[in-house]
This record gives sequence, structure tokens and C-alpha cells, in this order.
Amino acid sequence: MNYNNPKLHFLLSLSLALFIASNGPLSFSFNPNQNDGRRSTHNGVLMTRFSRSTRSPSPSSSSPQVFNVDDFGARGDRSDDSQAFYKAWNRACSSKFGVVLVPKNRVYHLKPITFSGPCKSSQITMRISGTIKASPRRSDYEKDTRHWMVFDNVQNLRVEGGGTINGNGRKWWRNSCKINKALPCTHAPTAVTFYECKNLRVANLRSKNAQQMHINFQKCENVQAVNLRVIAPGNSPNTDGIHITDTQDIQIMNSVIRTGDDCISIVSGSKNVRATDITCGPGHGISIGSLGADNSEAEVSNVMVNRARISGTTNGVRIKTWQGGSGYAKNILFQNIEMINVTNPIIIDQNYCDQDEPCHEKRSAVKISDVVYNNIRGTSDSEVAVKFECSRSSPCEGISLTNVNLVREGDGVVEASCENVSFDKSGRVFPRCSNT
Ligand SMILES: *[C@@H]1O[C@H](CO)[C@@H](O)[C@H](O)[C@H]1NC(C)=O
Ligand SMILES: *[C@@H]1O[C@H](CO)[C@@H](O)[C@H](O)[C@H]1NC(C)=O
Repeated sequence: MNYNNPKLHFLLSLSLALFIASNGPLSFSFNPNQNDGRRSTHNGVLMTRFSRSTRSPSPSSSSPQVFNVDDFGARGDRSDDSQAFYKAWNRACSSKFGVVLVPKNRVYHLKPITFSGPCKSSQITMRISGTIKASPRRSDYEKDTRHWMVFDNVQNLRVEGGGTINGNGRKWWRNSCKINKALPCTHAPTAVTFYECKNLRVANLRSKNAQQMHINFQKCENVQAVNLRVIAPGNSPNTDGIHITDTQDIQIMNSVIRTGDDCISIVSGSKNVRATDITCGPGHGISIGSLGADNSEAEVSNVMVNRARISGTTNGVRIKTWQGGSGYAKNILFQNIEMINVTNPIIIDQNYCDQDEPCHEKRSAVKISDVVYNNIRGTSDSEVAVKFECSRSSPCEGISLTNVNLVREGDGVVEASCENVSFDKSGRVFPRCSNT
């Protein structure tokens, strides 16, 4: 592997090269069930490096104290169980190794609820084995229409247990301006928000039918999201699967995401983001952005998507920025990705415009540089399988494509469309731009 660009070399020496070396450009492998142990041996050095910064809380060896929501009056019938959850949380939060237990085989209904820290505990766990379901009454959200469940400022938190978090979003979807054009555009709640949480592990859960986004990591540090199933209908509006904003050192592993919007969206303030073994689709694919809306500054760096199967989505791996922003999206690696009938498998769109009025050309843009696409194969549902639509004012630089092979789903030609982009390296690429 000989990359000459010094910045790219820096990126790769940030141990990402180990992934290329260990997986080999040709040895495409995807196994959603691959366990953590094997992977950590497989990519030993990388995991060692990463585990220093993404140390997860140690298993609660000292006897955990379990607070079953049923013991605090939760009924699991159709009544509101919010108070019981608050009480159980507050007790767990003030004991050393507190566990809030949500028993299985029952459905608990919650209004908007915030589980606040900081806690006295060295570690706190919410073990969701049953189902938590959101109140569908929109009047319950009058005070804050943006959130349903929030974990606020909690350190050393685990949320796990094999159960389901159901946003019960159908009523919200019907009232979305994307579904009913006569209605004004308003926000619906994010189902679960982790806000300012450090050392967080979210594992073995199902998140379904969120009101809007499913899971939002905001201003968090050192996060593992493992074995999640995030499911909503393909036509449900804005139901992003996992949204990452202002968050550092986050790994998403072994997860299946099928929704009506981005499977994973990574926005400003995020760095050291790794997504591995992701099954995505339907939905809008894996996105960095949108960035730079309303002339804002955005910074995203060190993102790796490794081993993904993306199927039936509108986009595969996408970077999208509005015109007029500033800042950067850089050091990004997409590799070992299988595309199945994806409309825009590889796309950088610096003219992103998700509003009714047309967006006019502006003189600045969020700078996109050092993006590597390696071992990306499969089928495109449109003629333009590779699309770099970069801004005139701030062209895309250091774009590198190797082992890319995208053909048309069914029959037909594919092409690449490349505007205002400079390539570092381009080896074994189909379709390729005429200027490479
Ligand atoms: C590919 O996706 C399009 C919609 O994006 C759909 O109409 C078509 O049936 C799909 N083809 C296959 C073979 O799944
Ligand atoms: C950017 O793309 C536009 C549209 O294709 C083209 O007219 C312009 O010359 C390009 N600018 C640069 C600097 O390549």
C-alpha cells in the first residue's frame, strides 16, 4: 500500500491501515454475527489503541443493587409508569452499582422522561428486558417536543437487556409535513437521547418506530453501541437510526438498521467514529452530514465505516453539505461495503438542499478532504453509481478510490460523475470519472 499524500498517510498511520492490511483489499468479508472477541484478535493493534480511549465500564463485580420498576409501582398495563421509573432510577443513581430492572414480558408506557445524572454510583445499568412504549398523546410532549427518553449527564452507564424501546411513532408520522404536505413542518421527539454521557455502553436492544430519530448520541464521549436492531418502516419520515452529534470516540458494532431515513448520521463536532458490521436498509444509507446548514461551521474527522451491507437505500455512503458553510469533514474511510440496489452508492453532495425554496450557490462550503473508498462492490439502482458533486469554491481533495466495482441492478450502464474533485489515487475502479 503506497499512499503518497502525507495527510492520507497520517490518516492511515492512525492505525486504519491495519484494517486494510488485515482485511486485504480483496478479502471482502461481512458477518453481522461475528463476535467481539474474534474481531479484537483479528485487529489486535487497533483494538488496543481504541480500547484505551473507549474503555467501557468494568462489569459490576461488587454486588449490584437491583431496583425493579414493578416494586416502585409500575403496572405494565396501559397506564403511565413514568413515576415508577423515576423512583427506580433515583434509587439506582444513588447506590454504588445500581441496576434499574425493566422486567420482561411486559409493556411499560412512559411519557417524556429524563434520567438525570450525575449519579453517586460507580456504574449504573438500565436493564430493559421487557418493552418500554412511548405515550402516543402529542399533548404529553407540550413542554418539549424534541425528546421522549433522555439520559442526561450520566457517567459509566449501561443500557442493555434484550428488550424493546418502542417510540410508538405512527401518529407523529401522520402529522409530518413530509407525509401530509398541508401541515406545517414541526419537530417530533427523538426516541432516546444520550446527552453528555461519558463511558456509555448501549447493547442488545431493539429500538422501533421512533417518533422521529431513534437514538441520538449528543455531546457524549467513549461510547459503544453494540448489537442493536433499529427498525421502522421505510416510509416513516425522518426516522434516522443512530445519530451522532458532538460526540467523540464512539463505536457502533454489529447492528441492523432499517428505517425511513439515514441508518447512521454523523454530524458536526463528531470525531473518532467507527461503525463496523452494519446492515442498513431500507433507509437513506450511512451519512456524514448534513453539515453547514444556515452558513454554520462544522467539523467532522476520523470516521471509519468498515464492513457494511447496504441494501435498497437511496444512498450508500454519503457526505452531504449545504452551500455556504465552513469547517471540514476529513480523514474518512469507507471500506468493505456491499451495495445492493442502492440509488446513489457513493456520493458526495455539496449542494445538499432539503427545503422548499431552492438553495443558491454560495462562496463557501464545508471542506471535504482525505476520503478513502476501498473495496466497495455491488449494484446501483441508478445510472450514476459514483457521484462527486463538489463545490466550486471549495473542491473535494484527496479522494481515493481502490477496488470499487459497481454495476447496474438488472441491466444497464453505470457512470461516474465528478465535479470539482481531485483524486489522490484511483486503482481498479468501475465506473470511473473521465478525468482520472
Ligand atoms: C431496486 O430498488 C427500486 C427502488 O429503489 C425498486 O423499484 C426495484 O424493484 C428494486 N430492484 C430489485 C431487484 O430489488
Ligand atoms: C466546478 O464545477 C463547475 C460545474 O461543473 C464548473 O463549471 C467549474 O469550472 C468547476 N470549478 C473548478 C474549479 O473545477
